[in-house]
Amino acid sequence: MSSPERLFFALWPGVEVRNSLVKIQRKLPLSSGKPVKADNIHITLQFLGSVLAEKKECLSRSLSTAAVSPFTLTFDHLGYWPKPRVLWAGCHHIPPELLQLVHYLGLEMTHCGLKPEVRPFHPHLTLYRKVKKPNLDLDLAPISWPVEGFVLVKSNTLATGVEYSIIEEWSLS
Ligand code: 2AM
Repeated sequence: MSSPERLFFALWPGVEVRNSLVKIQRKLPLSSGKPVKADNIHITLQFLGSVLAEKKECLSRSLSTAAVSPFTLTFDHLGYWPKPRVLWAGCHHIPPELLQLVHYLGLEMTHCGLKPEVRPFHPHLTLYRKVKKPNLDLDLAPISWPVEGFVLVKSNTLATGVEYSIIEEWSLS
């Protein structure tokens, strides 16, 4: 039997959006914290935790590309959560399609015997971890991200840090 994998559903930025986010990340005048590696920047939609192959296969069979229409996210501010000590980029306007997508993934997780997140969804792109209270201007020059699909990602913890690999992709239609 194969061992469980640590998985999550995410929105994965393309090169252009990723580069814009990295530019912002580099310009932040922070005196503490660790930047998220450029290749790892993403928005988590649903965190699945440790998942056995049969449940992953169930999700793979059940998820439909036609469930939600494409939408655009506009990142226009930074935020800070003191407890996990993360600095993130967020959107003032949350498109209803994004919430529909998260809800839809939750339903399919339940269908496959997995527990979706019950806490309210706060879409965010984590840019820095381990930040002590930052003293920053929280406005951002807006970055637009046309979202056309979502991915299932495997998280590997290595001696060199966490590494993410996309194991499946779906398009929105
Ligand atoms: P974060 O961006 O706020 O750190 C992989 O661990 C991804 O899943 C991270 O992006 C993390 O969010 C998110 N995540 C959500 N819930 C989690 C949990 N209970 N444990 C670990 N990661 C979680």
